[in-house]
Amino acid sequence: MARKKDALSPDINPEVVEEEKHFEASLRPRNFDEYVGQKSIVSKMRVYVAAARKRNEALDHCLFSGPPGLGKTSLAHIIAKELGVGMHITSGPAIEKKGDLAGFLTNLSPGDVLFIDEIHRLNASAEEYLYPAMEDLRIDIPLDSGPHGRTVRIEVPPFTLVGATTRTGLLTSPLRERFQIQERLDFYTPEELAAIVHRSARILKIQTDEAGGKEIARRARGTPRIANRLLRRVRDFAEVEGDGRITRDLADQSLLRLEIDQSGLDPMDRRILLTIIDTYGGGPVGVETIAASIGEERDTIEDVYEPFLMQEGFLQRTPRGRMATARAFEYFGKKAPRGQQSLL
Ligand SMILES: Nc1ncnc2c1ncn2[C@@H]1O[C@H](COP(=O)(O)OP(=O)(O)O)[C@@H](O)[C@H]1O
Ligand SMILES: [Mg+2]
Repeated sequence: MARKKDALSPDINPEVVEEEKHFEASLRPRNFDEYVGQKSIVSKMRVYVAAARKRNEALDHCLFSGPPGLGKTSLAHIIAKELGVGMHITSGPAIEKKGDLAGFLTNLSPGDVLFIDEIHRLNASAEEYLYPAMEDLRIDIPLDSGPHGRTVRIEVPPFTLVGATTRTGLLTSPLRERFQIQERLDFYTPEELAAIVHRSARILKIQTDEAGGKEIARRARGTPRIANRLLRRVRDFAEVEGDGRITRDLADQSLLRLEIDQSGLDPMDRRILLTIIDTYGGGPVGVETIAASIGEERDTIEDVYEPFLMQEGFLQRTPRGRMATARAFEYFGKKAPRGQQSLL
């Protein structure tokens, strides 16, 4: 039976889990200065925001992409705040009917930000409805159904659509092309994650020494949301089994018990690699086949796990499917077949 996304162990699931929302809100960076990393994106956004303010215009539509937990939602909030405008929040799956979208669009004040999370999951009719709003600041509301039904045209104020998605490739090209600003967020460096861990530790009043913070950062899969989550888990060990302080040793011991290894790989990462290596001789093997073998959704494998495994050099995407690299074989103490040796 296929496992649902929310059946993932909460320690390793980079997507936000319900009980975490309150805690995430308290740790969210509130302005560009507090937003760690993504330097090139932030420096450009500062200019675009300042220019829009100066001209007293709405900022161009923005599309942010990247794996979950990298700071897309945070960036959207910061942009609205720095623009000094209202922020309206919804998501692709939440918009079921055109009317839902009309509700949002007609409630905007001039210059406001409309944030649509998971915008790739917007249904086709809502999407088409969005085009004239984005381009010509108008929507056509149907009065009666059917192909020849009458419509009423309503003007919407100048606004900024901020869309977030895990992969821009999931968007239809007409939608993608309507975003004048498109940025892809990258995984964070261990140094950037350490800065985030220490900031969170200060806010949550967790005693964390330099090396302890560094250890958590190093093993957080390049992802701020995971770094913050590991910080909370490690704090539990520090309070119950230690003296409350997070040191390097304490972090190391706790992370090992959470099955997060020295490279930051978690049990699902290892399962994916071992399936490719042991069951499919190192690949190439299709992602659907991997998904079926381990009982995980294909989307979760592609959005959450593969980007990190590729960035770390454990996995390669080829036209014929996924392949484990020589580094992956080495990691498990196995010998790579000839073909894979060149892939290091
Ligand atoms: N650049 C950043 N600086 C500091 N903290 C960050 C940054 N990006 C993300 N975070 C932290 O990670 C959490 C998840 O980020 P979020 O913006 O919700 O990611 P996404 O929307 O891409 O899934 C935030 O609540 C925040 O605490
Ligand atoms: Mg988000």
